[in-house]
Amino acid sequence: MPRTNPLLERLDAYPMAALVSAARRLREAGGPVFDFGLGDPDEPTPAFIRQALRDAVPEGSQYPTVRGSRDVRRAIAAYLERRFGVTIDPDTQVLPTSGSKEAVFHLPLAAIDPAAPDRTVIFPDPSYPAYERGTLFAGGQPHAVPLPADWRFRPWELDPALLARTRILFINSPHNPSGAVAGLEDLRRTHQLCLDHDILLVADECYADMYDHQAPPSLLEVGLDNVLVIHSLSKRSGMTGYRSGFLAGDPRWIQLLAELRTNPGVAPQDFVNAAAAAAWSDDAHAAQRRGTFTAKRALMRAFLEGIGLEVAPSQATFYLWFRAPQGHDDASYAELLRGAGIVVVPGRMLGSTHACRGWLRLALVPDLAGCKAACEAWAAI
Ligand SMILES: Cc1ncc(COP(=O)(O)O)c(C=O)c1O
Repeated sequence: MPRTNPLLERLDAYPMAALVSAARRLREAGGPVFDFGLGDPDEPTPAFIRQALRDAVPEGSQYPTVRGSRDVRRAIAAYLERRFGVTIDPDTQVLPTSGSKEAVFHLPLAAIDPAAPDRTVIFPDPSYPAYERGTLFAGGQPHAVPLPADWRFRPWELDPALLARTRILFINSPHNPSGAVAGLEDLRRTHQLCLDHDILLVADECYADMYDHQAPPSLLEVGLDNVLVIHSLSKRSGMTGYRSGFLAGDPRWIQLLAELRTNPGVAPQDFVNAAAAAAWSDDAHAAQRRGTFTAKRALMRAFLEGIGLEVAPSQATFYLWFRAPQGHDDASYAELLRGAGIVVVPGRMLGSTHACRGWLRLALVPDLAGCKAACEAWAAI
């Protein structure tokens, strides 16, 4: 074995990579597969976005810049104004990213001093695994906060001693996996807390446009001071393969991140930025996509509740978070379902505390017909 960064040996494979392998093994074994695992829905990317990318592929190719084209930054600022009523300077307060995962992962590198006592990074548990992984690779100290029964994150209830050694607080609304949405009052309280303790507050809002009826607010509506938000086109516009998102917020942090990001040279390609500008400039396709997921959510929720399972009252993201039936925990129920070709995520893949045990995540990936077929296979178990 070559000598490696010991973190690579300590950490298991990235949880979502294990899911992809599980689904692939099922496919190779033949038989129907109902893949509700990875959050990568089957719906096509809208034609006008694909065309915008094609039209932007140049004859000669130059390196993209970390700041990205002015066009995409202006399209993002216009989106933020339309969607949340906030005014953002496209030159100093926005940075296009290659999706939101790399933005989450790289961010602690700019904010954490690995030698300092205040290098804790707080995030809710369960949550998206990249908060913890990015923290560890940056030399920070991850601190997962188990969510209570209503899945509402209340950072203002945290121990002041913990807050005193904290550099970054990640929040995620709408929340993967529970779908819980932070209201403006919770965002205000959390922001004030972070100002009081000089903590960088980062809101992962990549599901901001995935909701049934009531549009979730953004942290940007509360303030910009020591604040960053992260958005993505993966979910809003069905563009997971394009790798396109953005960071917006406090211009001091945007400047620092722009500097940091020149080191790995992580910047979306110009033709991806052109497609992104088209996508952020249009709201109709996002509304249409929302309708599709609302229909799938209603179908799967009715099914799960119909077979007696408890489902978190989510009206946002494209996940359903449900409790394993009596006699099972999350791992054993996921295994039972896998036997029928149904892939879901056991809660323990999304966190380390007791809050995840016994719960499972279902991503609304298959189309409506696929969801109906899955319900039949599930009902037969
Ligand atoms: C909460 C959350 N943040 C970030 C991401 C990363 O998304 P992407 O990198 O495709 O923008 C995901 C993906 O599922 C997620 O659930």
